[in-house]
Amino acid sequence: MLSGMNNQVSTGAAVLSARNVYKSFLGGDGIQLDILLGIDLDLAPGERVAITGASGAGKSTLLHILGSLDRPSSGRILVEGNSVSESSDEELAEIRNRYVGFVFQFHHLLREFTALENVMMPALIAGVAISEARDRSRELLEEVGVIGRESHKPRQLSGGEQQRVAVARALVNKPPVLLADEPSGNLDTQTSQRLHDLIFGLREEHEFSMVLVTHNLDLARRADRVLVLREGRLELGTKG
Ligand SMILES: Nc1ncnc2c1ncn2[C@@H]1O[C@H](COP(=O)(O)OP(=O)(O)OP(=O)(O)O)[C@@H](O)[C@H]1O
Ligand SMILES: [Mg+2]
Repeated sequence: MLSGMNNQVSTGAAVLSARNVYKSFLGGDGIQLDILLGIDLDLAPGERVAITGASGAGKSTLLHILGSLDRPSSGRILVEGNSVSESSDEELAEIRNRYVGFVFQFHHLLREFTALENVMMPALIAGVAISEARDRSRELLEEVGVIGRESHKPRQLSGGEQQRVAVARALVNKPPVLLADEPSGNLDTQTSQRLHDLIFGLREEHEFSMVLVTHNLDLARRADRVLVLREGRLELGTKG
């Protein structure tokens, strides 16, 4: 267990859980916006959950909180049954780096660095030796099908390739959980489907759990569970 995780709470075998999570923001006019109103979620090992919902419903907000990129206003996030609420920012960064791979809607690759360096970065931050980080990253770039473009900067890659590099980067530390926010949001139908094939194929091999925020029916259909974020709460959705 990492330092900064305590308060063991029973969650069965969940790898990631939300308990009664609330999140409010202050709007520009000083009025409080209540976005999440009591979110409960248990992600089982290997489980694939899709979250849909209207624009502005709070999907990205929820994903950021699940991935410890942001903190809830109240309620708790548990990683493998351990509450991370009391963790310091440094501890949260470590937990994030170790437990969660994040794929953003816009790739968020570092523009001055090559594809290979972008994938290596989280491993280096986690203290993996350079040669090991390089080997792992090359292997992942091959798995995601970005071959012969290791030394390309993000702007020298297509949108689909950028997302593939982002997927490789998300997996370099072998996280038990992959969180993806509209990973194919900016791609055409065919490129989207190839990215979905890739993500689900990698999941078969690496056995991570995932939470996918998506409007894409093809992606939602492939999940074990579809949830809809509506009026601040998660409801069971359908795959159609
Ligand atoms: N840091 C912030 N400060 C103030 N308001 C915020 C902040 N982040 C998000 N919001 C507000 O919270 C609401 C939910 O935002 P969020 O990005 O989570 O929606 P979303 O469901 O991901 O939408 P989309 O489908 O358009 O990506 C929005 O109304 C947004 O303006
Ligand atoms: Mg969003």
